[in-house]
Amino acid sequence: MTEFPNLFSPVKIGALQLRNRLIMSPMENSYATLEGEPSSRSIAFFEARARGGIALITLGACTIDESHREVPRSIHFGADARLDAHRELTQRVQAQGARIQPQLVHPGPDGMAPHLSGLPNIGPSVIPSYLSGIPCRELDIAEIPGIVEEFAAASERVREAGYDGIELHAAHGYMLLGSFLTPNRNRRKDGYSGSSQAGRCRLLIEVIRAIKAAAGEDFPLTLRISGHERIAAGRPSYDTAAIAAHLVEAGVNAFHISGGVIDPLTTQMVAGSHLPPGHNVAAAQAVKEVVDVPVIAVGRIHDPALAEKILSEGRADLIAMGRPLLADSEWPNKARTGRAEQIRYCISCQHCIDSMQVGRMACAINAFTGHEYKLDLGRTFRPERIAVVGGGVAGLEAARIAAERGHSVTIYEARSRLGGALRMASIVHAENQPFLNFLISEVKRLQITVELNSALDADQIENLGIENVVLATGGRHRTQRIPGDQLPHVLTGKMLTALLIGGWPQEADRKFSTHQRWMIRVLGAPIARLLDPPSIRLLTRYWLPLGHRVAIIGANLAGIELAEFLAERGRRVNLLEAGDDIGSDVGPKRRFEHIQRLEGLAVTIHTRAEVIEISRKEIVLMGGGRMEADSVIVTGTIEAEMRLAEQLHEKIPGLQSLGDARKPELIAGAMAQVARMMLPNR
Ligand SMILES: Cc1cc2nc3c(=O)[nH]c(=O)nc-3n(C[C@H](O)[C@H](O)[C@H](O)COP(=O)(O)O)c2cc1C
Ligand code: SF4
Repeated sequence: MTEFPNLFSPVKIGALQLRNRLIMSPMENSYATLEGEPSSRSIAFFEARARGGIALITLGACTIDESHREVPRSIHFGADARLDAHRELTQRVQAQGARIQPQLVHPGPDGMAPHLSGLPNIGPSVIPSYLSGIPCRELDIAEIPGIVEEFAAASERVREAGYDGIELHAAHGYMLLGSFLTPNRNRRKDGYSGSSQAGRCRLLIEVIRAIKAAAGEDFPLTLRISGHERIAAGRPSYDTAAIAAHLVEAGVNAFHISGGVIDPLTTQMVAGSHLPPGHNVAAAQAVKEVVDVPVIAVGRIHDPALAEKILSEGRADLIAMGRPLLADSEWPNKARTGRAEQIRYCISCQHCIDSMQVGRMACAINAFTGHEYKLDLGRTFRPERIAVVGGGVAGLEAARIAAERGHSVTIYEARSRLGGALRMASIVHAENQPFLNFLISEVKRLQITVELNSALDADQIENLGIENVVLATGGRHRTQRIPGDQLPHVLTGKMLTALLIGGWPQEADRKFSTHQRWMIRVLGAPIARLLDPPSIRLLTRYWLPLGHRVAIIGANLAGIELAEFLAERGRRVNLLEAGDDIGSDVGPKRRFEHIQRLEGLAVTIHTRAEVIEISRKEIVLMGGGRMEADSVIVTGTIEAEMRLAEQLHEKIPGLQSLGDARKPELIAGAMAQVARMMLPNR
């Protein structure tokens, strides 16, 4: 008996029987071939999700017209689509008990036709692409039947290739159908006019009818539509509910209710923590209340308990999830079999979007995603003893991979707790916490031996007598020198980290007032050593050894998250960056979300702000600017620390150096490094 009976009960979409109520949301991944066919990479990726227990997989946007693609590697069902690779994909997924459907689109105004085919984009009116800004050509009314026919022909090919249904994409106010549907972009004056509900819906209804006629009445059709477009002049959820019945009449067998409209950073449709979990559920419910076909809710429903609650309260009939299945392909199986605490939960870091926009989609916390075709955690034929020195992200992941493969692993950690820099990252940015929990729970599950408070030097490592040693001891903090940085109210990022995770850095003896030193040494440090990051987050709401006005010098991700953490604790924060932009170590989507959050927290941001002096009351900028500060934190940077590796590399043949010790990178880089090193076939 599962803990989530609603989530794991069967359901039907039209004639399509599903084994449970979990759907993989469409996600473009750029894994397909340049010819627009599923590649061996795509097939292995989807097969892994099918094996992981999902009921229905939806491919990311697949175009009906090869010369109009959303991305260069868009899968297409256009005139000359070759169906062999599709058949292999559908069969491999179905063999795992899952069902599979493409998301059919015409990219319309938001495609890459001008770049890839030299054709103009097409749309309801002359409007700029949401993604490139290039204006499209307005479709002549005489061309519209041809587009409808293309949808019909593509649907026939979909069925012929062995898919189990179609998701038609009319969400997010973009691509062709979404643009006709939104008054914001449809400024036509003819029978498809954006100023009337009937005009806006006309193309969509014609396409639905044509698909049903071509693929067959019994071929299941899900419609993806934004419940609430969440922009001025966008469609509110009550208007979506008002058109839903007409769409059912035309042939829709289920609604997939997303939200927002697209923009280059997909701010609303792939929401970060600025939107709460389940932010589209109310809109899904509004539609469910007026139709008698299943309704699917999506959007930050990452926790099985929340998914179960939505279903048990009758707010939706099925749950779709995207990023959770990138982070953990086994999410459904783990939830079903009482192993929810073993799920590697998505941390909403948006690396998947940022990576997809510059190449192929990757998941920061799961380096196996997208590499299933070549990475295999298979058991080793030669179990060995492995010592992992350092229990941060890289060390924990290396230990996990080695233990999973059947090696006998011991982690030696210098501190009294596992987690390394991820502990600090979880204190300042709570969304990292589930990943820390996952790594630590894997250590327990895999029965990895852990030696805490074991700061080993080169001789001690050699004396372990273990041939395979992974050095993951972390990097070296480097802080630029600024006149005045020895003053008591100036801390470094390294010192602050040590204090928050329960240490007492040497330099701290010269810092702080007597009262503050007493508080930290006698109460703070021992308590922080015992506590988990959530408790430290809570306690620091009451006390921190920092003044009211804080200046943070250095606005990489660590500085940004620290600024948010302090502003949430009532500090007035100035965030100063000498370079041109803040967050230069993260992608544009993640950076933008932080900028929004910083603004919401009233953090003042200055770029090209080089600090040339710190005095007791203020800091002085190059060019003469001054600002008052009671506390100053110089974040610094992390550099590789290869000393141990250099001392040991001739003595221990199986020595590997990983993580910040080798090359400082954020979580995504560290995880990829570990997978590359620990799995020889990568
Ligand atoms: C990398 C990536 C690509 C996406 N591509 C598409 C797409 O092709 N079509 C679409 O309708 N939504 C797309 N989405 C949105 C997801 O389907 C989903 O609605 C969104 O991620 C919110 O759900 P989640 O919180 O479960 O991830 C994409 C999301 C991600 C992360
Ligand atoms: S990259 Fe980040 S946001 Fe995307 S699935 Fe992985 S953890 Fe989630």
